[in-house]
Amino acid sequence: MTITVKALQKTGPEQPFQVASIERRDPRPADVVIDIKAAGICHSDIHTIRNEWGEAHFPLTVGHEIAGVVEAVGSDVTDWKVGDRVGVGCMVDSCGTCEECRAGQEQNCLEGNVGTYNATDVDGTITQGGYAQKVVVDERFVCRIPDGLDFDVAAPLLCAGITTYAPLARWGAADSKDGAPKKVAVLGLGGLGHMGVQIAAAMGADVSVLSRTRKKEQLAIELGAQQTLATSEDGFFADHRGEFDIILNTISADIPVDKYLSLLKPRGVMAVVGLPPQKQPLSFGSVIGGGKVLAGSNIGGIAETQEMLDFCAEHGIAAQIETIGIHEADAAYERVVAGEVFFRVVIDTATFEDAEVA
Ligand SMILES: NC(=O)c1ccc[n+]([C@@H]2O[C@H](COP(=O)([O-])OP(=O)(O)OC[C@H]3O[C@@H](n4cnc5c(N)ncnc54)[C@H](OP(=O)(O)O)[C@@H]3O)[C@@H](O)[C@H]2O)c1
Ligand SMILES: [Zn+2]
Ligand SMILES: [Zn+2]
Repeated sequence: MTITVKALQKTGPEQPFQVASIERRDPRPADVVIDIKAAGICHSDIHTIRNEWGEAHFPLTVGHEIAGVVEAVGSDVTDWKVGDRVGVGCMVDSCGTCEECRAGQEQNCLEGNVGTYNATDVDGTITQGGYAQKVVVDERFVCRIPDGLDFDVAAPLLCAGITTYAPLARWGAADSKDGAPKKVAVLGLGGLGHMGVQIAAAMGADVSVLSRTRKKEQLAIELGAQQTLATSEDGFFADHRGEFDIILNTISADIPVDKYLSLLKPRGVMAVVGLPPQKQPLSFGSVIGGGKVLAGSNIGGIAETQEMLDFCAEHGIAAQIETIGIHEADAAYERVVAGEVFFRVVIDTATFEDAEVA
C-alpha cells in the first residue's frame, strides 16, 4: 500500500509547476514517514529542472532541503519516533558498507549515493523530492532539527548549510594563523553564500563577501561579514591580490577562475561548491604559482550534517528566507536566477492543503 501525496511536479523544463498526486513507497522496516512542513528552493533544483546538468527524468518533483515531523516509523526503527522534528537533505540512500560510507562520507559512496530526486532508487524507481506533502526515507538519512530552529529557517540548512559548513571545516576556517583569524572570502551572496558567511563568522574567521555589486553590503554585515567587495568595480582584482586564505566559491554561473585564484595568498584554498552548467577555463599556472589548492566539495556526510545543525542552533544561525505558497514556485525560480532573493525561498507546504490536483 503506497502513500498518495500532493506534490509540485514539472513535466518538462519549460512547463509550469503543476500540483500532482505522487506515490510514496509503503514504508519498509527501516523507513521513516515525514510530514513535510517546509521545503527550500536550491539553485540545484533549478539547474536540474532546466536540464542544465543533463537530461532530467520528467515528470519530476525536486527539492532537497526538507524539514518536517515524523508521522510514522517502520518496525525496525529505533532512533526516531512519531513527532520528532527532522530534516532530509540531498541523499536518501547509499551502500552503507564501502569505506566512504563507513567513514561517514555517504556523499562519496563508492557505489554512488541515491539523490533525493532525479536519481535511480534501489528499487529502480526515480526518486522524487521534497516539494511535496510527505516523503518516505531510510532512517539513516534523517537528521534531527534542534528545537531552537523553526522548520522554515532550518530547511535550507539541509543543503545550503552543510554544503558551506563542510568545506569551511575541512579547510580550517576556524583555525587562526599567526594569532589572527583566517581571511575567508565568500564568493556570491545567494542561498549558499549567506549560510557560508554566517558559518565562517561563527567559526571565528574574518569574512569578506565578494558580490557583483555593493547592493547587499548592509545585509552582508548583518550576517557577520567584515566587508563587501564588489567584483565588478574597476581595479577589484588588482586591489585584492593575495588577500585571502580561503575562497568559498558559490557562484552558479561562468566565472573567471584564474582571476579569482589570484586573490588567494600562497597556499590558499579555493573551495568550489557552485556548479555552473558550462565548463570553466583554468590555467594550471594559477594554482602552481603560490602552491594554491583548488578543491571541490559536495554537500557533506550525514553525521556532519547533524553536527552542522547543532552548530547552527548553538550559534543562533538560521537561513534568511522568503516564504511562498506552492503557486508562486515558478516566479520564485525566475527571481532566484535574477539574483533578487534575500536569500532563500522556502515553500510552505501547508499551502498544498486546498490545492486541486491538475
Ligand atoms: N557542491 C554542492 O554540494 C552544492 C550544493 C548546493 C548547491 N550547489 C550549487 O551552488 C550554486 C549556488 O547555489 P545557490 O542555491 O546558493 O544559488 P543562488 O542562491 O542563486 O546564489 C548564487 C549566487 O551566485 C552569484 N551569481 C549568479 N549569477 C552570476 C553571474 N552570472 N556572475 C557572477 N555571479 C553570479 C550571485 O551572487 P551575487 O549576487 O552576490 O553576485 C548569486 O547570489 C549552484 O550552482 C548550485 O547548483 C552545489
Ligand atoms: Zn541544494
Ligand atoms: Zn557506500
